[in-house]
Amino acid sequence: MAAAPLHALILAAGEGKRMRSSTPKLLHRCAGLAVVEHVVRAARGLEAQSVTVVAAAGDEALREALQGYPVAFTEQATASGTADAIAAGCAELGPGPADVLVVNGDCPGVLTSTLAHLVAEKGDAAAVVLAVEPADRSGYGRLQLSGDGELLAIVEEADAGPEQLEAGPVNGGVYCFDLDALRGALDSIDADNAQGERYATRLFEALRQSGAEVRAVPWADADEVHGVNSRAELARAEALLWRRKLAALMDAGVTVRAPGSTWVDVDVQVGVDTVLYPGVTLEGNTAIGAGCTVYPGVRVRNSRVGAGVTLLDGSVVEESIIEERASIGPYARLRPKSEIGAGAKVGNFVETKATRLGAGSKAGHLTYLGNATIGEGVNIGAGTITCNYDGVAKHETIIGDGAFIGSNTALVAPVRIGANAYVGAGSTITEDVPDGALGLGRGRQVNKEAWAARQAAPDEDAGDAPRDEEGGTLRGEDSS
Ligand code: UD1
Ligand code: MG
Repeated sequence: MAAAPLHALILAAGEGKRMRSSTPKLLHRCAGLAVVEHVVRAARGLEAQSVTVVAAAGDEALREALQGYPVAFTEQATASGTADAIAAGCAELGPGPADVLVVNGDCPGVLTSTLAHLVAEKGDAAAVVLAVEPADRSGYGRLQLSGDGELLAIVEEADAGPEQLEAGPVNGGVYCFDLDALRGALDSIDADNAQGERYATRLFEALRQSGAEVRAVPWADADEVHGVNSRAELARAEALLWRRKLAALMDAGVTVRAPGSTWVDVDVQVGVDTVLYPGVTLEGNTAIGAGCTVYPGVRVRNSRVGAGVTLLDGSVVEESIIEERASIGPYARLRPKSEIGAGAKVGNFVETKATRLGAGSKAGHLTYLGNATIGEGVNIGAGTITCNYDGVAKHETIIGDGAFIGSNTALVAPVRIGANAYVGAGSTITEDVPDGALGLGRGRQVNKEAWAARQAAPDEDAGDAPRDEEGGTLRGEDSS
């Protein structure tokens, strides 16, 4: 007999009160994605005819978070229990025969292969539930089994007696139902329990009482379906996802020196022979090339890093591109839209933003480069500042190939420094410097011969401290 068509429902309309958060529970970030996004991805991995997310009425944030995923949405009018959520989901499905996989939206660790296993195990039963035995069973519905191991009912913790709380398997929050049997049973589920909700778990007892077959499918990895109800459980789920990600990276040839203190989001790519030191955070949609070294305390977010790049200690890179063999840091900050060319160097305490630093160029120390286009082989001296903001608008600085910017230069944008031009140290440059020219924009130095001796023995007649040409004292105080 050909397998029945499969539909998946993801329950995502709960209130998530135990998170104590203004952010809906399922939208909390977990290793780079919203909690519910992980579950959607796992369900999408199945060959299901449809994946439907049951959302709370008017939950636009959930729809936005799942934009781009080929899922349907349906609304549960009020969060009156998981059976009610399933009923809302079923209302969207056509007539049976079909199988319906139901997954709690709060178990981000669940894998497609596990969902497929449960579906395959269902066979002719009316309903199956994934049964796990976690070390800490608190919060889970307890499976009530007969002496020979048959599933009789699922009892929520708040309604369970002491003997049910003590031992035995619990409900992993993943189920597969025969659609017609499910529709028949949903009507009989009331809210007569400790929490006053229509529980999905009651469906098992109801189906069994109507003579249908219900079964528990044991699953060894309880961590995988660990539900996120509180902040502590969120941290635990995220730790699992990070461990999994690092294991996959290590399998693929990445050295992770301290897996317990390295945090890599699920969509990050890292090339072979790259070394990640402790305290590294790689976030979002980041790709790190092969043979890179990422030193302690580096954070990279939504950025592309080419092969052979060195990211030195304490550097932050956001929404930027770093081409091959460049070196960044220590303590550099690449703000969005920075582009660092091949072999270029961005040294300590350098900040860049919306700036291209060409191949082989160097900004070694204590510099701010904003809204700048800098050619190849340029040397940016220590303390160079692009003055890109006039209080209203941002302005561009353009520096040609091979230019040399002396230390402590202020480049007042908009301004253009020509190719192979020089700017003298300490200049404030307000006008363009032509190709090959030397631009100087600073006060001329004056040396006062024997000035120190005169200060030690001031002219008694003058009765005053030494003065410069403008009449002020060289100590700066007003002598009048
Ligand atoms: C649920 C199960 C419990 C199981 C555990 C596994 C019930 C009654 N209990 O408990 O047996 O061991 O999951 O993690 O099902 N939701 C809705 N609408 C609602 C209520 C909840 O869509 O009205 C959604 C939530 O957003 C969540 C999921 O259903 O994604 C489960 O709800 P939750 O409150 O987390 O149930 P648990 O108490 O964890
Ligand atoms: Mg839960």
